[in-house]
Amino acid sequence: MALVPTTVSAGCVRSARSAFIYNRQSNQLHVTSQVEVHEPHRICFVMSNPKSLAGPAALEAARALHLTIDPWILRTPVLRAVGIEDALGSGTRVSAKLEFLQQTGTFKARGALASLGRLSPAERAAGVTAVSAGNHAIAVAYAARVYDVNARVVMLSTASPLRVQRCRDFGAEVVLVDDVHEAFRVAEHIQETDGRSFIHPFEGEGVTLGTATLGVEICEQIPDFDVLLVPVGGGGLCSGVSLAARLLNPSATVIGIEPVGADTMYRSFSAGEPQGIDRVDTIADSLGAPYALPYSFRLCRDNVERIVRVSDDELRAAMRFLFRKQKLAVEPACAATTAAVLGPLRDEVAGKHVALVMCGSNIDWQTFAKYAEL
Ligand SMILES: Cc1ncc(COP(=O)(O)O)c(C=O)c1O
Repeated sequence: MALVPTTVSAGCVRSARSAFIYNRQSNQLHVTSQVEVHEPHRICFVMSNPKSLAGPAALEAARALHLTIDPWILRTPVLRAVGIEDALGSGTRVSAKLEFLQQTGTFKARGALASLGRLSPAERAAGVTAVSAGNHAIAVAYAARVYDVNARVVMLSTASPLRVQRCRDFGAEVVLVDDVHEAFRVAEHIQETDGRSFIHPFEGEGVTLGTATLGVEICEQIPDFDVLLVPVGGGGLCSGVSLAARLLNPSATVIGIEPVGADTMYRSFSAGEPQGIDRVDTIADSLGAPYALPYSFRLCRDNVERIVRVSDDELRAAMRFLFRKQKLAVEPACAATTAAVLGPLRDEVAGKHVALVMCGSNIDWQTFAKYAEL
């Protein structure tokens, strides 16, 4: 039996002895020992039709992926955030998923491992490319090292030197360019000339299943949350986390948090379809996607109650607060959920159990001190 028979639309192989195959025609997930694994001990993931990523089959696919990427990710801890609870008063309970302690410093490792894991051996041999302000590039570089794939990533010359160095440390070649439009042009050129696969930062089933593994962990570690707050950039993080939360904790409310200066998902929710903005203007560079795209938009729309916006001043105050009261030094994107709970959502969460996704910590000390105004 081939690893990817035509009737199989999604599946995941952990070893020669256990495999998960989702059959699109029967809409069923099978566990089988009959699969021939052409690359033992490596991730083999066959993607499904995007429309099938819903319901129990999606959850099983996320769980199967979780097993396969398990050797390369950490089960990040959950913190009872008593500093935030004290500031809120009113019996509110706050649990924070410290995903900024993940390999590579952000949740992005999950999606990158999932995306590279689904490439064919020929695609892996040709290498990968990506465009990123930093965290996605680091994650792609990390996943490329895991799979022994060559990575050539395009980053902005304004990117934090710390992030550029982390990519290089994982063995990726970094191409620096001056603006985001040029970055995409260069990545396209690299794709064409080198025949590399483009690993998207937030759109597509691989990314969503990757972030769904985070959602599954959150629901296992915090089984009784009432409200879950998730930062939103392009929406890949929120698409998978909210999908898992909807399936595992259906009575909870999921709210996406965006910076005012990059509120593409907020505008997309209002318009009922993906929207772009002309100018991104926020200190939360990791949340600075200039547009939403259909796949993650649809999943967010289906599983997220609404998008709430926070200002850069609220982000700075939250960074400062997290440092002083929780002893956490995080990048602005990571402070977004704290900013929301201390700001616009304060009254709404009173007396409830709130779970916060804290997503990234790739920031150098000077930038941190400047934003947190220490
Ligand atoms: C630390 C961090 N948080 C949140 C996000 C937003 O993720 P998404 O673009 O999938 O919404 C990113 C994206 O790069 C990130 O690096």
